[in-house]
Amino acid sequence: MKIAPSILSADFANLETDIKKVANAEYLHIDIMDGHFVDDLTFGANVVQALRKHSEQVFDCHLMVENPDKYIDSFAQAGADIIGVHVEATPHIHRVLSHIKKTSAKAGVVINPGTPITAITEVLGMVDQVLIMTVDPGMGGQAFLEETVGKVKELAHLKAQHGYKYEIEVDGGINDQTIKKVAAVGATVAVAGSFVFNAQDPTKQVAILREAAQI
Ligand code: DX5
Ligand code: ZN
Repeated sequence: MKIAPSILSADFANLETDIKKVANAEYLHIDIMDGHFVDDLTFGANVVQALRKHSEQVFDCHLMVENPDKYIDSFAQAGADIIGVHVEATPHIHRVLSHIKKTSAKAGVVINPGTPITAITEVLGMVDQVLIMTVDPGMGGQAFLEETVGKVKELAHLKAQHGYKYEIEVDGGINDQTIKKVAAVGATVAVAGSFVFNAQDPTKQVAILREAAQI
């Protein structure tokens, strides 16, 4: 299992220091919120560009924004390695994913807890990553929604059946217990915000998650 600490729960006044504490994780998960698709506001591409100088990790940019097409080029140029777009945020998911694939970034599609896998079936062959939200997006620290586990399993089944290559990522309410449930059904990347950063030693929290996922 790859671990993706979410800097949403890091200290925004000390991001450089905090991301160095989780350098033992494969990914860095960066939540982009626009105040429209979700209520809160976080960072733009300029923050991604600034962080890029301080990390070699895979920058996994989770766009919780309306009109995602407008932001793809700037996030790719800023150093995003993966750009994830919500299917609920655009009526043109195929076009937006095709746009991402023309940049240096890999293409990810994201679905909310209330959205079925059938909403993304037609694009599964073209994406590098599928992110299953295991909470409703918008804030950290929420409880894991057990009913999303079936979708992770379904996605793993479709991957095996069709020979798809995507990573299966989960995001929301991940801790040393819930990570076992998603690992058991085929998740390959786990995002964790509060479990990692709301603790004394974020480096150790990453190691705890990795260990817990070995089921
Ligand atoms: C929620 C974000 C998550 C968030 C997860 O909208 O997409 O990445 O940081 O936080 P935790 O791990 O605390 O649920
Ligand atoms: Zn996220």
